[in-house]
Amino acid sequence: MTESDILEAQTNAQRARTAPRHVALIMDGNGRWAAKRGLPRFEGHRRGVEALRRTVRAAIKLNIGYLTVYSFSAENWSRPREEVESLLTLLHRFIRNDLAELHASNVRVRVIGARADLAPDISDLLREAEQMTQANSGLTLVVAFNYGARQEIAAAARALAEMVAQGRLRPEEIDADAIARRLDTADIPDPDLIIRTSGEQRLSNFLLWQAAYAEFVFLPILWPDFDEAALSAAIAEYAHRDRRFGGLEAAARSAKTAS
Ligand code: IPE
Ligand code: IPE
Ligand code: MG
Repeated sequence: MTESDILEAQTNAQRARTAPRHVALIMDGNGRWAAKRGLPRFEGHRRGVEALRRTVRAAIKLNIGYLTVYSFSAENWSRPREEVESLLTLLHRFIRNDLAELHASNVRVRVIGARADLAPDISDLLREAEQMTQANSGLTLVVAFNYGARQEIAAAARALAEMVAQGRLRPEEIDADAIARRLDTADIPDPDLIIRTSGEQRLSNFLLWQAAYAEFVFLPILWPDFDEAALSAAIAEYAHRDRRFGGLEAAARSAKTAS
């Protein structure tokens, strides 16, 4: 092995250690992107879907295990009816047009969010996307649709309360794991990196429980302008973070191992 081989092996090992396994995206700023150009909000959302398509391809290329995208929040129903309808139309179109390519790219689609009150055409489509791709082993694309983290946690609490009421669970058995297992994300690792575009610095009811130790990157760019370079830049910033999980910083950790 030459010195440069060793260096390259070290860099690869470092990359493997620092690459996020799960990236979650708050795709925000479609309306402002359109307003800046004097276009209707719908056009911003349409270009937002193109950015999503690019981002999924980039995530596959960058070997990301899980990509969660916030596509429609439980609170987004409060927008004007025409805007809600156009967002639903775009979701329809995205799944109809892109499902075959996603499947061919070995992407596994998962959907989180409340399903019960959705119109049958939407819930059938979401189920179809999940069923068709369930055996795929590449990128897991988690689509958060009609998603609200507080509602998700409340549903988990309700499920546990029902088990207690039926005598199938003792209250003292309820711990963080018991709750996590009843969230929509039960079998999905917590996000390592959460990116929000548009300059807003808030979670807007996204993955509140799962974000406990996530790293945050807030980007000033508007979602329709997001691309592979922006994703790579966010990941590069993530790689410089020292994740402590309540323990010691990296320098102190290695000093401790050395002593
Ligand atoms: C994100 O863009 C898309 C959804 C929330 C569905 P917005 O529509 O929130 O765009 P801004 O924040 O108004 O610019
Ligand atoms: C969050 O964006 C939801 C999605 C990106 C789908 P919003 O635009 O709805 O969030 P607020 O209202 O600015 O907090
Ligand atoms: Mg917004």
